Amino acid sequence: MAYKIGVIRGDGIGPEVVTEAVKVLDAIGAKFGHEFNYTEILMGGCSIDATGVPLTDEAIATAQASDAVLMGSIGGNTSTSPWYKLPADKRPEAGLLKLRKSLNLFANLRPAYLYEELKEACPLRDDIIGDGFDMMIMRELTGGLYFGARSTVEEDGQLVARDSLTYSESEIRRIAKRGFDIAMKRRKKVTSVDKANVLDSSRLWRKIVEEVAADYPEVEYEHMLVDNCAMQLVKNPRQFDVILTENMFGDILSDEASMVTGSIGMLSSASLNDTKFGLYEPSGGSAPDIAGQGIANPIATILSAAMMLRYSFDLDAEADAIENAVKKVLADGYRTIDIMPRDGSDVKKVGTVEMGTLIVERL
Ligand code: IPM
Ligand code: MG
Repeated sequence: MAYKIGVIRGDGIGPEVVTEAVKVLDAIGAKFGHEFNYTEILMGGCSIDATGVPLTDEAIATAQASDAVLMGSIGGNTSTSPWYKLPADKRPEAGLLKLRKSLNLFANLRPAYLYEELKEACPLRDDIIGDGFDMMIMRELTGGLYFGARSTVEEDGQLVARDSLTYSESEIRRIAKRGFDIAMKRRKKVTSVDKANVLDSSRLWRKIVEEVAADYPEVEYEHMLVDNCAMQLVKNPRQFDVILTENMFGDILSDEASMVTGSIGMLSSASLNDTKFGLYEPSGGSAPDIAGQGIANPIATILSAAMMLRYSFDLDAEADAIENAVKKVLADGYRTIDIMPRDGSDVKKVGTVEMGTLIVERL
């Protein structure tokens, strides 16, 4: 079959890691007899440089006309890049937020899994790691603080800034259902994370999650305050199966969860709406400090491509092939710099392109 894939290379390490993911997809296409047709989409800093805005209407239309979009990362160094001298709605991140909103990508899945082979890259103690962990962060992606009204105005002779955090029942219900649905396919446990001891939006979150939970009697669920969750992720990450949470908390907790798996360079993500369409991107950022050096870990992007095959195209065998090839490459002792073992044990350090090639060889 033929599939239309929109490709956002973006900024920083984005182009380097996307090239490797496309290489893997092409190898899958050749092996399994699929045609992947790519259309380049400009977003982020590179779009600002080329068009003056981080995302054009044409770029949104191209994404909409694709079966799925594969993305690298966007943005630059927020203290030094000229992009951050622009008004907030003209900066690279505004493009990503606009794309998520325009395509209604409300469900963001971020799997955090500790590979047996990467235990030595995990910063946690062995007695905490135990036999590893495997969690799925289900982050709400089109509401909350990211999309509420904001302003900076002068009041009584000083600047006052406001960001508003809004959630409606229907926004909470649809993401909660996704969270429980995915739990049904996993270990059947949902930890809903909020700040219900302080925030109204969290109290509504809790109420709606409880209503949704009633429809899933097989799923064990609990509520956890976000500050406690941040602590539990490093104290006992094995307790988590699905973490269901709102946009900002999910942003923060998913970075933390990725680090306990060894590196943010391993964490893939899928952003989904009510259709088969999805935007697939590594959870990590554009890492401008290491861009262009050929050392970035392409695995998160390659695993995001696998998620695309699984969730948007229903190509499970093909997705399995990629995930197994990644496991094999790690078992064979190849590591990019971010996942080097703490104890200096014997592994082979490789760069971005070589890692992509090694994965292709193992498909
Ligand atoms: C992420 C990123 C984005 C976010 C940024 C780039 C706007 O950190 O996907 O987690 O905050 O959602
Ligand atoms: Mg983030």
